[in-house]
Amino acid sequence: MKKISIIGSGYVGLVSGAGLSEFGNHVTCVDIDKTKIANLKKLKIPIYEPGLDSLIRKNMNKGLLNFSLNVSKSIKDSEIIFIAVGTPQSNDGSADIRYVESVAKTIAENLNDFKIICTKSTVPIGTGKKIKTLIEKFSSSKDFDYVSNPEFLREGAAIDDFLHPDRIIVGCESDNAVNEMKEVYRPLYLNETPILFTNIETAEMIKYASNTFLATKISFINEIANLCEKVGADVHHVSKAMGLDGRISPKFLHPGPGYGGSCFPKDSRALAHLGKENDIQLKLINAVIETNDNQKIKIFEKTKSLCDKNLEKKTISILGLSFKPETDDIRESPAKTIIPLLVENGASVNVYDPVAMENFKKEFLNINYFNSWRDCVLNTDICVILTEWNEFRGIDLKELKKLLKQPCLVDARNIFSIDKLKAENFSFENIGRNL
Ligand SMILES: NC(=O)c1ccc[n+]([C@@H]2O[C@H](COP(=O)([O-])OP(=O)(O)OC[C@H]3O[C@@H](n4cnc5c(N)ncnc54)[C@H](O)[C@@H]3O)[C@@H](O)[C@H]2O)c1
Repeated sequence: MKKISIIGSGYVGLVSGAGLSEFGNHVTCVDIDKTKIANLKKLKIPIYEPGLDSLIRKNMNKGLLNFSLNVSKSIKDSEIIFIAVGTPQSNDGSADIRYVESVAKTIAENLNDFKIICTKSTVPIGTGKKIKTLIEKFSSSKDFDYVSNPEFLREGAAIDDFLHPDRIIVGCESDNAVNEMKEVYRPLYLNETPILFTNIETAEMIKYASNTFLATKISFINEIANLCEKVGADVHHVSKAMGLDGRISPKFLHPGPGYGGSCFPKDSRALAHLGKENDIQLKLINAVIETNDNQKIKIFEKTKSLCDKNLEKKTISILGLSFKPETDDIRESPAKTIIPLLVENGASVNVYDPVAMENFKKEFLNINYFNSWRDCVLNTDICVILTEWNEFRGIDLKELKKLLKQPCLVDARNIFSIDKLKAENFSFENIGRNL
């Protein structure tokens, strides 16, 4: 089993660290964030991800997983170094790879003997070559193999995704790297999880193409939903029926307030930018992005229209701030677009989320935070469901009706039965089910 460093202990770094130690490797997760590392050493996990704390605790106790601020030492002590730092969006839509480059330079400066240097961060096609050149420039030793090993985990189900992935992608240029990566993922290799070996550029492209394809499915069904509303069709049945076709698959066919999160928005924009740079028209991908941006605005418009087109002096309760359930990640969540529009238009906004409120409070001050959905909706003019947490699926409409000023709801996740909403005399909007 291998000695591994993971540089960057965020969503991907932590889950990968926990997962690779579970596979029997000796893993050190490194970060520059002192508080994060101090907390991790005390088993205080900085993110909400089901199952992550117990997997970390288990492998720390076995002596297979530890945390460190000492990047140089971790690099020197490791056979394989994973780069898992962020690649946020730049102003022009491209992926900002400065954190990856900075880590690559640190690795180069500490290259004491042969290492595999492996990028898990999502990086634009061509980045691997740049990193190789950069390491060669800043290191006296040229003794390393470079690997692209993009990560496909989904927040909220990340542990299961990492331990039981659909596939592992390894972009590399040497037999040695192939063998080393088989060792890293040995339990998966033995249980015949598909491991695809490609060149570096192909591995980088697989990640962008996969995320953008899933984003396309979401924008597609959102467009169909918007049309369903006009023509009297029910998108719920449309997507169910479409999904029964094995060629289509039911996943990512749920209409809603548009995709968010740390990956789809930035990765689709980065791919569109890459098309522009290479003079290739990516019309479909640009349309996917535009449809998604419009979908968020649509939820604002639906809310406004249920408030007689006037939000002044209205109090609106928002249930759900994270971009999806089972995570506290609010990056590009629909709530971050919709809430400012409501406030700009004169509304007072109450919010509740089971786990994402602390993150939201860091960015949004002029809204009212509540510790339960009941307190949040009490005496408000309209309730808007933005994230389909199970807690909200279980809301009793009779009780909701009693708490609200009047029975008025935007169900942006289609979690409530239309018949029940009608039975309780709700004025309501949903997505694609104007029946
Ligand atoms: N979050 C996801 O669901 C997901 C899934 C697949 C791929 N990815 C990709 O993985 C990458 C990481 O994403 P994330 O969500 O884990 O990011 P994140 O922001 O949660 O974590 C990044 C971490 O890197 C640390 N860091 C930054 N510079 C550093 C340095 N020089 N040395 C050490 N640590 C440093 C930060 O302090 C932070 O803790 C991105 O490229 C992302 O696109 C993310």
